[in-house]
Parts: sequence; structure tokens; C-alpha cells
Amino acid sequence: MCGIVGYTGQRKALPILLDSLKRLEYRGYDSAGVAIVGSELKVVKDKGFIANLEAQLPAIEGTTGLAHTRWATHGAPSKVNAHPHVDCSGRLAIAHNGIIENFMEIRERMEKEGHVFASQTDTESLVHLVESYYDGNLETAVRSALREVRGSFAIAAVHADEPGRIVGARNESPLVIGVGPDENFLASDVPALLKHTDKVLYILDKEIVVLTASGVAISDLEGRTVSREPERITWTLEDAEKGGFEHFMLKEIFEQPAAIHETLLGRIANLDVNGFFAEGFTSVKLVACGTSYHAALVGKYILEEIAQIPASAELASEYRYAHGPSERPLVILLSQSGETADTLGAMREAKRRGCKTLGICNVVGSSLAREVDKTIYTRAGLEIGVAATKTFVTQLVALYLIALRGGLDRGTLGYEEADGLKDQLRSLPRAVQAVLNRSEEIERLAEKYRDAKDMFYIGRHVNYPVAMEGALKLKEISYVHAEAYAAGELKHGPLALLTPATPVVAIAVRDHTYEKMRSNIGEVVARGSPVLAIASEGDREIVKFVDDVLAVPELPGIFNPAPVTVAMQLFAYHLARTRQCPIDKPRNLAKSVTVE
Ligand code: M6R
Repeated sequence: MCGIVGYTGQRKALPILLDSLKRLEYRGYDSAGVAIVGSELKVVKDKGFIANLEAQLPAIEGTTGLAHTRWATHGAPSKVNAHPHVDCSGRLAIAHNGIIENFMEIRERMEKEGHVFASQTDTESLVHLVESYYDGNLETAVRSALREVRGSFAIAAVHADEPGRIVGARNESPLVIGVGPDENFLASDVPALLKHTDKVLYILDKEIVVLTASGVAISDLEGRTVSREPERITWTLEDAEKGGFEHFMLKEIFEQPAAIHETLLGRIANLDVNGFFAEGFTSVKLVACGTSYHAALVGKYILEEIAQIPASAELASEYRYAHGPSERPLVILLSQSGETADTLGAMREAKRRGCKTLGICNVVGSSLAREVDKTIYTRAGLEIGVAATKTFVTQLVALYLIALRGGLDRGTLGYEEADGLKDQLRSLPRAVQAVLNRSEEIERLAEKYRDAKDMFYIGRHVNYPVAMEGALKLKEISYVHAEAYAAGELKHGPLALLTPATPVVAIAVRDHTYEKMRSNIGEVVARGSPVLAIASEGDREIVKFVDDVLAVPELPGIFNPAPVTVAMQLFAYHLARTRQCPIDKPRNLAKSVTVE
């Protein structure tokens, strides 16, 4: 997954492109490049962050151009593999996000025809293919080339013979157009556009778009005109800035009480969410990747406990290739971005199997939101840090709402009981805020554990997937190896790994598993491992036999995941910070993964 931006208008393209590109750096950051069309085509690119590219850029004149920040798929991160790629004439440049699956056969054909390749990327095959069709009209050349291409792509192309024009296209990778007066923009994601316009046009699969300063023309691969009116977006430039916080991740962690509140707003009183349960589903399958998968695992407990409906969770990358039973559960797909390739693949597989699909998604207009039968939006706002934080807790909130609605629709939950659960849900922003107020204390704890090389996270019941989420946060931003286990499983193998050098984070809040957790913590302490317990406020017992305690407000069991997760987010954040890790841009990762 990569980020693409394009600009055509009256202003100098270079500063606009660089500024917009930086707002997409969360999509990939192993190399970057720009292509500007002035009196000729000028391309500059290099390995490393955008700042590295910027430092070496000469002033390039020109009011049309494109830029790219890369997350490597084919070809190592290097200057030569950085985008944009140029054709043999040096007059055509293309930036690409996605994977051209049949790039090898195209490359062999192009090489036979005499095209000379400079990189190992799949993208360069497309560049030479477009070149082979080019006869003075970039749009028709791109259209002809794309008819031969298999795979996922969002592309932007410019040609020195057609200054003032950008041709874009998409299939299974996001592409959005920003519409301005006398200028137009193209980008992989909305944050790149917020500084310039709030009017956007989403390009759909197998569509081509031509941008000039005065217009945007969309057509399909067959050349038929597509009419679409721009939409207004509600995210603002402020949402895309750090707002005084050192990192986006910290800002987003602190936005969680507001994000939960927003997600509940207008929905909780009447449980105004349609989870399809009135249609008589007897089971639910929750499908997602990464942090969203952890929310799905928590969702299984929420749905089974509140709505009394059998539920299971599956990784999207596994679900899509499983030979499932013939029953047709309601399939709930969770995705912050709505663009994760594995989750989209799973959604399409669920539809192929004849299942109804419900999306829980944060990005309005995303591929998931467009293709599922119904979407419940998490109103977390823009999330830029690669580590998912506020979108996880708002996914949980959506699941609580669905479960409450489902319980009532199925007659498995009484109105009085539902009212009590709603009150708990309303109290979540307060509980999360109480954890945020302990940020400094958590920072001190993180400093204590900063030199750990391996850590374990344990929990039971709903706190088992929460432990998985805690471990994932630590791994991805601090590079400390962390494993999560269901606490009862330690004795079945992992105990062999415990030593005084392997701290254990134990989620031991006061719920029906508390006594058992205490026994499991005892097993850990007996092996000499330091224990950091996440425990309910006021628990005077646990402090006696663990090394450190991080207190969270006491809540009924099923509502603990949000505050506990927030505590672990802060722990991971501060630990990564003391280790001077690039928190918003962890190595090898990118925010949304649009390849399989
Ligand atoms: O956009 P999605 O929710 O579909 O993304 C799924 C995962 O790629 C994502 O949650 C990833 O695991 C995060 N980096 C975790 O912090």
C-alpha cells in the first residue's frame, strides 16, 4: 500500500504535492518521489522518508504533477524502485498503489518489443504498456493498457506532451478526487485534500478519471461517461494535524472519550442500529484483520453475552479461503479503513456464499462501506497513526449497540436489563478518561519495563483478545516481542519461556475470572517473572503479590475491554517513546493494507 497525490491548476505544483504527500505518509514511507510537468517532465525520487526527498529537491517549475510515497511490495525499497516510474522516452510518468498480478508476462512482452526496464517493480510493466499504446492521447493509452492488467491498482499518470492533464484510474485500491475552483487534486485518501477543498469525488473500481485545471471527467474502462456529483466531507484540516501532541497516536488515544461519545450519539436511546437480527439470523460470523480482528474476537463475547446469539470470529485472510459449512450466518466485517484487501476479499466471499453482510467501518465512502448490505459507521474521526487506537474502542461501541438491538429484537434481552447496559455504555467515555488521566503514571511504568526484550500478555474471557490487542500495540510500535495467551493456557507450554527477564502484563480486573487470574498470576510469580497487573481501582489484594499495578475503573465484565485497552495503548506508546521509536510510522508497516 502506498500514497499517491496529484495536482493540476494555476499554482506551483511542487509545494502542494509535497504537503499533500506528507499527509499520506502513514500509507507507506520507504521511498518517495515526484513528477512535475513543466516545459518538460522532471522526476525526482529517493529511498527513505518524504523529508529526505524534500531536502534534495531543486525548485521545479510546473503547475501539474504527481507524487508518491511507497510501501514496498515488488522490489526492495530503493531509489530505483521508488515511484513515479517513467517510460523509455522519459516523457510519461506513473505512480501506482496496488499490485499488478500479471506484471511478469507484460514485462517479458515489453522487453521483447525493446522496452528497457530500470526497476524490479510490477508498476514499471504498466508504464511501458501505456507507452506502447501512446499515440498522443494519454487517456486512451491508459484505457487500452488497463484492459490487459490483472490486479489491484490506483494510478496517476502524466505525459510531457499533455501538460495540464492527469489521468487516474482505480481497481480495488482507493482513489479520491478533490474538486477546487480552477484546480483539481487526486489522492489515495482524503487527508491529502483537506487543506484545499472539502468537495470530493470517489472514483470507483474500473473507472478512469481525467483531471485538468477546469474539470474532472470520469469514464469506465469501455469509455462510457460516468456522471457523479461531488460530496462534501466533514473531516477538517485540524483533524489531520497533531494539535500540539507529539504524535498522532497520542492525540488519537486522547480523542477516545469523544470518539465513543460520537459513536453513541443519536443511536443509544432507541438503539437506532440495524443489525439485521429482526431477520431471524441464528448465528454471526465476525471477520477482520489485525486490531479490527481483536475487536471481532471481543465482539463474539459481547454478542453471545448480551444478545445470546452464537458468534465466532475469523481472520479475513483465513475466512476467504476456508471451505465453510453451508449455513449462512450474518457476516459482520470490521475495518477502520474499509480498504483492507483481505477484509474486502472476505466480504466478497461471504456474499458469494449467500450471506448478508454488515460492515463496521470508519471511513465513509470506502470500498467496504459501499459493498456491504449495510454499514454502521464508527464515528472515530480521522485516524492517522499506523497503530489503531480510537477506531478499536469505537468498533467495540458499535458491537455493544448491535448486541443490544439484537437482544431486544430476538427477545433474549429484557428492556429493563437493556436500560442498565445502556447506562454502562454511556459511562464508557468517563471510564476511558479516568485511564487517560493516569498517563504520567503509565509513562513511569513504561520506563521501568523499557529494556524488556520479550513480554507476555495474559487475560481470560473477554480480556484474552484484549491481551492480544495489548501485545500487538507493543510489538508494532516499540519492536518489543510480545505474546498474548489465554491465562489458563500458560501451563500448557508457554510457562517454559518465563524467566525474570520476561515481564508479564496480566489483565486481572474484578470479573468472574478474577480468582482464576490470581492463580495464573501466582504461577507466573513463582517463575520469577515481573508482573504488571491491570486491575480494578480499589483492589487492595492484588498489590500484595505483583510488582506493579495499573488501575482502571471497575466496570461490569463485558465493558472492561475499552478502559483496559486504553491503558495498554498508553503503556505501549510510552514504552516506544522511551525507546525512541518512530511511533506513527513503525518500520515495515502501513496504515491500511490494500494488498493480500
Ligand atoms: O483498516 P483495517 O481496520 O481493516 O486494518 C486492519 C489492520 O491492518 C490494522 O488493524 C492493523 O493491525 C493496525 N496497524 C493495528 O494497530
